Amino acid sequence: MGMRTKTILCIGAGYVGGPTMAMVARQCPEYRVLVVDVDAARVHAWQSGEPPIYEPGLKELVAVSLNRNLFFSTDVAAGIAEADIIFVSVNTPTKTFGRGAGRAADLQYWEKTARQILAHARRDVIVVEKSTLPVRTAEAMERILRDSPADVGFEVLSNPEFLAEGTAVRDLENPDRVLIGGHDSASGRRAIEALIEIYAHWVPRERILTTNVWSSELSKLAANAFLAQRISSINSLSAICEATEANISEVSRAIGMDSRIGPRFLNASVGFGGSCFKKDILNLVYLCDHYGLGEVARYWEQVVLMNEYQEDRFVRKIVATMFNTVAGKRIAIFGASFKADTGDIRESPALRVCHALIEERAIVVVTDPQGLLNARRELAIYGDRVLFEDDPYAAACGAHAIALVTEWESFRTLDYQRIYAKMEKPAFVFDGRNCLDHAALYALGFNVLPVGQKSLIHQ
Ligand code: UDX
Ligand code: ADP
Repeated sequence: MGMRTKTILCIGAGYVGGPTMAMVARQCPEYRVLVVDVDAARVHAWQSGEPPIYEPGLKELVAVSLNRNLFFSTDVAAGIAEADIIFVSVNTPTKTFGRGAGRAADLQYWEKTARQILAHARRDVIVVEKSTLPVRTAEAMERILRDSPADVGFEVLSNPEFLAEGTAVRDLENPDRVLIGGHDSASGRRAIEALIEIYAHWVPRERILTTNVWSSELSKLAANAFLAQRISSINSLSAICEATEANISEVSRAIGMDSRIGPRFLNASVGFGGSCFKKDILNLVYLCDHYGLGEVARYWEQVVLMNEYQEDRFVRKIVATMFNTVAGKRIAIFGASFKADTGDIRESPALRVCHALIEERAIVVVTDPQGLLNARRELAIYGDRVLFEDDPYAAACGAHAIALVTEWESFRTLDYQRIYAKMEKPAFVFDGRNCLDHAALYALGFNVLPVGQKSLIHQ
C-alpha cells in the first residue's frame, strides 16, 4: 500500500478550530491540515497570515506551517471529500427561539455540518467533536451518519478543547490533559488510537485520557461549571466583604493556601464572561431538567444567577456612589473584552455594564486595546449614546468616573496623575478587577471603589 499523506480537516476556523489546527500542523508535519469555514473573510484572514482573532503567539504559530501543511479554504465539500479525520468546531450558541430558548444549545450549524459530512465523505472517516456540545450529541451525529449512501464508515469521537482564550497557544502546547471519548468497540478503539497518535506527537501519553463518549462530553461541561462556580463563590463572598470589614483578596489568599482548594480562579471580579461558561452551565441546567433532576438544575443555575447579580451590583454601586445619578455624566469603561489578552467580547461583563449605564443615561466611552472593533459592532444599537476611544487618556478626559472591567496589563501602567488632572471632580475609579494600586490612586485624589474591599473615599 502506498503511503498517502493523511488529511486532517477542521470545519470551523474560529477561536477553537484555528489555534488548535495551527498547533496540530506544527507538531505533526507529516499530516496535511486543512481548515474550512463558510465565513470567507475569516478564511482570507487566516490565509494571509493575519489571524482574524487576537491571541498572543498565534500569528507566529500559524506562520510556521502556513502553506506548508496548514491550509485554509471556504470549500467545505471538497475538504470533506479528502479528509481522513474531521474535527468539527463550528459554533453552538444558546438557542434564541423555540423550545429550550435561552438555555439549550442551538445545534442547527452543527447538524448542517453532520449532513454535509454525510453527503461528501468518500472514504471511512473519523469525526471528532471539538465544539462543546450537550451530552449525547455524538449519538445524534452517529444516527445521522449511519445512513451513509456511499457505504462510508464513520466513527464519532468526543475530544473537547480546554484551551482558554488569551493563553490558547500555551494551553495547546502544554495541556493539563487531552480527553478522548470513544466507543468500546473494535472500530471505536481504532479511532481512539488514531487520535491518540496525533496528540502523542507532543503530549505525554499519561496526560491523554480516554473515556466513554458521554463521560467526555459531560466532563467538558463539568469542568467549565466547576471553574465558573469558583468565581461565583468568591464573588458572592465579595459582597459580604463589602458589607463588613473583611477583604476579599485576603480571604482568597487564606482559602487558596489550603492545598485541597488551591489558589487559582479565586479572583473576585465584576463577573465572568466568555463564550463558554454561561452557555455550558445553561446546557447542563437544560440537561438536568430534561432528566427530571430539578434540584440539580437549580443548583447549577445559581452560578449564572450569582454572576448576573455581581455585574448588576457593580453598576448599582457606581450609580449609588455618584450621588444616585449618572445621567449626562461621562463614564470611561476601561476594557471591552471578557478578559485580558483577547479581543473576544462574547458575554463580556463590559457589555452588561454598558447596557445598564446607558439605561441610566450616562455617556459611556469604551476603550480597549483589542476588543474595540467587536465592541463597536455589538453596541452599535445605541448610536451616539456610546463612544469609542483607542486611547485610554482620551476616554477618561472629561469623565466623572472610570470603570475598569478588563484586567489589561496596559491599564495598570497608565499615568493616573495625568488622567486625574483631566477628569471632573470628584473623580471616581471603580476597579472591577482589583488590579490597580488603590492606595496610590487615593493619594492622587481619586475616590477608589474596589470589589470586595473597603472603598477609599475622600470626605
Ligand atoms: C474557559 C475555560 O477556562 C477553558 O478551559 C474552556 O476551554 C473555555 O472556557 P475562557 O472562557 O477562555 O476559558 O477564559 P477563562 O480564563 O476561564 O476566564 C473566564 C472568565 O472568568 C473571564 O471573564 C475571566 O476574567 C473570569 N475570571 C477568571 C474571574 O473573574 N476570576 C478568576 O479568578 C478567573
Ligand atoms: P468557537 O469559539 O467555538 O471556536 P467561533 O464562533 O469562533 O466559535 O467559530 C465557529 C466558526 O464555525 C465560525 O467561524 C463559523 O463561520 C463556522 N461555521 C459555522 N457553521 C459552519 C458550517 N456549516 N461550515 C463551515 N463553517 C461553519
